[in-house]
Amino acid sequence: MEYKSFESIAEEMLSNQKFLRLSHESHHGITRLDHSLNVAKKVYKYAIKFNLDYISATRGALVHDFFTNAEFLSNHGLIQGVVHPDIALANAKGEFEINDKEANMIESHMFPLSVVTPKSKEAWLLTGVDKLQAIYEYASYKFNYKKATSKLEYALGCMFLFIFYMITTGRE
Ligand SMILES: [Fe+2]
Ligand SMILES: [Fe+2]
Repeated sequence: MEYKSFESIAEEMLSNQKFLRLSHESHHGITRLDHSLNVAKKVYKYAIKFNLDYISATRGALVHDFFTNAEFLSNHGLIQGVVHPDIALANAKGEFEINDKEANMIESHMFPLSVVTPKSKEAWLLTGVDKLQAIYEYASYKFNYKKATSKLEYALGCMFLFIFYMITTGRE
């Protein structure tokens, strides 16, 4: 089967000026754009490997953190983990055609912090990959100890894939 390339799926988002503002936002010691690309590239790879809807999976992953720090700071009194998926979803819907699956991926990516639960395998994949990537990026930034964090990522990755299989087996 011929798959669309990651670049061709990401093209629409990477040519959007509002989305590109994420390249000026810091996130786990890198930019929010780089974090989003790191997560989306992994989601793309695993979605193809597990025969999922890789196009929606990649699109949802690309915009899962589509918010600026200024937008977040204007939401008073709530913690970032709960609020930022809602801001990201509103921004994504404002700029792109977002289907129901992609919307749920964005809303639920902070699960179990989020009120919304992941409703598809693609959403479960995103919430897992995002956490592992965040841990890896944060550990690399904080400790600058790539070797250990790669091992950590590998161990957590195996654990996540096991849980992913357990959760999704037999479900749509
Ligand atoms: Fe996030
Ligand atoms: Fe993220």
